Amino acid sequence: MANFLTLHGPNLNLLGEREPGHYGTENLAAIDQMLAQHCDDAGHQFDSFQSNAEHQLIERIHRSRAESVDFIIFNPAAFTHTSVALRDALLAVNIPFIEVHLSNVHTRETFRHHSYFSDIAVGVICGFGKTSYLLALEAAIQKLKEKD
Ligand code: DQA
Repeated sequence: MANFLTLHGPNLNLLGEREPGHYGTENLAAIDQMLAQHCDDAGHQFDSFQSNAEHQLIERIHRSRAESVDFIIFNPAAFTHTSVALRDALLAVNIPFIEVHLSNVHTRETFRHHSYFSDIAVGVICGFGKTSYLLALEAAIQKLKEKD
């Protein structure tokens, strides 16, 4: 059994009503429910956290070490393109993570093409809407299996 933590960055609490052309019509609770169910079916533990505040995400990452989180699925949202502090937090705890985006950031504005996380992530999945999260979770489960 492994512990998975999904972290959602700013404005993702508005999923379902926010720019549905980019982010779909499903809300965050429905996405978390889908991931929790997938984890449960595979015999794993699931936890999720969303914040609009950078420091709260940093503190949640710090806590995840004490909580023995095995893998983080992270959609840093707008912090993807700005946050050295979140990058440093992930490096500090040294927990593997997959970077996830609902939209394909590479087809959008050029400021979204750069990520402070991609080069330190196990992998990056973007452009598949809520399925991006599911693909990331499945990939993380496989990665941990390979390690055992
Ligand atoms: C996002 C893409 C980011 O550029 C944007 O700031 C978000 C959501 C995505 O999931 O597609 O808030 O991370």
